[in-house]
Amino acid sequence: MKTILTGLRVNSELTLGNYLGALLPMVRLANRYSKEGFNVNIFVPDLHSIISPIEGNMKENILRSIRYYLAAGLELNDNIHIYRQSYIPAHSELCWILNCVATMGEASRMTQFKEKSEGKDSVNVGIFDYPILMAADILLYDANYIPVGEDQFQHLELARNLALRFNKRFGETFTVPEESKKQIEFMGIDGGIRIRDLVNPEKKMSKSTLAENSKIMLSDSPEKAKKKIMSATTDSFGSVEFDFKTRPGISNLLNIESLINNLPLNEVIATWKGNDRYGDLKAKVGESVANLLSTFQSNLEKISDAEIEKLFEAGETYANTKANKKLLEVQAKIGLR
Ligand code: TRP
Repeated sequence: MKTILTGLRVNSELTLGNYLGALLPMVRLANRYSKEGFNVNIFVPDLHSIISPIEGNMKENILRSIRYYLAAGLELNDNIHIYRQSYIPAHSELCWILNCVATMGEASRMTQFKEKSEGKDSVNVGIFDYPILMAADILLYDANYIPVGEDQFQHLELARNLALRFNKRFGETFTVPEESKKQIEFMGIDGGIRIRDLVNPEKKMSKSTLAENSKIMLSDSPEKAKKKIMSATTDSFGSVEFDFKTRPGISNLLNIESLINNLPLNEVIATWKGNDRYGDLKAKVGESVANLLSTFQSNLEKISDAEIEKLFEAGETYANTKANKKLLEVQAKIGLR
C-alpha cells in the first residue's frame, strides 16, 4: 500500500493562486488515490509554522487549514488521515536523530534557508533545521509521493538523501520517497502550477503583493473577484493565443479557467483561440471564479470546529501508532533500544 503525504503551512489567508496551485490539486489526488487503496496523510505542520511569528491565532489557523481542504472538496474515507504534527512527538524525536545524520553543508545549501536568513543579524535555528524536520515528517510514514510546490523539491531531495544514508549506515529502515521527476509525473501538473498576478502577469500571484487588484483572496466576495478578473491586464494583440512568454495575462486567464472547471488546458485553448473579444473571455473566467468562491465560502461555513477536532482525534491515533513503530525501529537500529 503506497502512501501520499502532504502538509500545508497556513499562517494566514490563501489566494486563488494557492488554491488552484496547491490545495485543489492535492484534494483531487487525495480523492482519487484514497479510493484506489493508497494511504493519504494530510497533516498540519504546526511546528514548522513557529519558525516565524504567527499571524493571527495559532489554533484558528490550524483549524482553518483543514477546513480549507474540506471546503475544497476533500471526500473523507478510512484511507485519509488528518493530524497535527505537534501531536505526534515522534516527528521531533526523529528530527533529532536525522540531525545527526545530516551535514551542516547540505542544510546550509537549502535555498529557502539562504533566502530566509540573508542579510539578517539573527536567525533562529528552526529556520536552519526546517528541512530536517520535514524529512522526519515524510520518512516516519514511509511516504512515496509528496505533492508539494517546486520550491519544496530541494527539501524533498534532502529527505531522499537522508533516507539513503541512514539505510546504508544502519540497514534498510526507511522507504526512499520517489525522486522529483516521478513526483511531478504523479501530480500530473508538469512542473507545478503558477497562477500569475492579475496586474503584472509576469509575476506569480502572491498574498504579499500590496495592489488589491493583483490578487484574489479566498475571502473576497464573488462580485469583487469578478471585477478583479474583468480588470486583469491582457495584451494588445487583439486575438486570444496561449503563450506564457509573450501573453502571460491571457494565458493566465485560460489556465485559471481550465483548472477551476477541471478541463484539459488544450480544450480551453481550442475554445478561445483566435477570439478577438477579450471581454467575453474575462466574463467567462470571472463567472467561474465567482462560482468557485461562492461554493467554497458556503462550504466553509458548514464545517464546525468540533467536526475537525474529531478528525484530528482519529488521525492522531493512527499517526501515533504508525510513527512510534517506525521510531522504535530507528532507535533499535542505532542501538538506543
Ligand atoms: N514545507 C512545506 C511548505 O512550506 C510544508 C511541509 C512541512 C511539508 N513538512 C512537510 C510538506 C512534509 C510535505 C511533506 O509548504
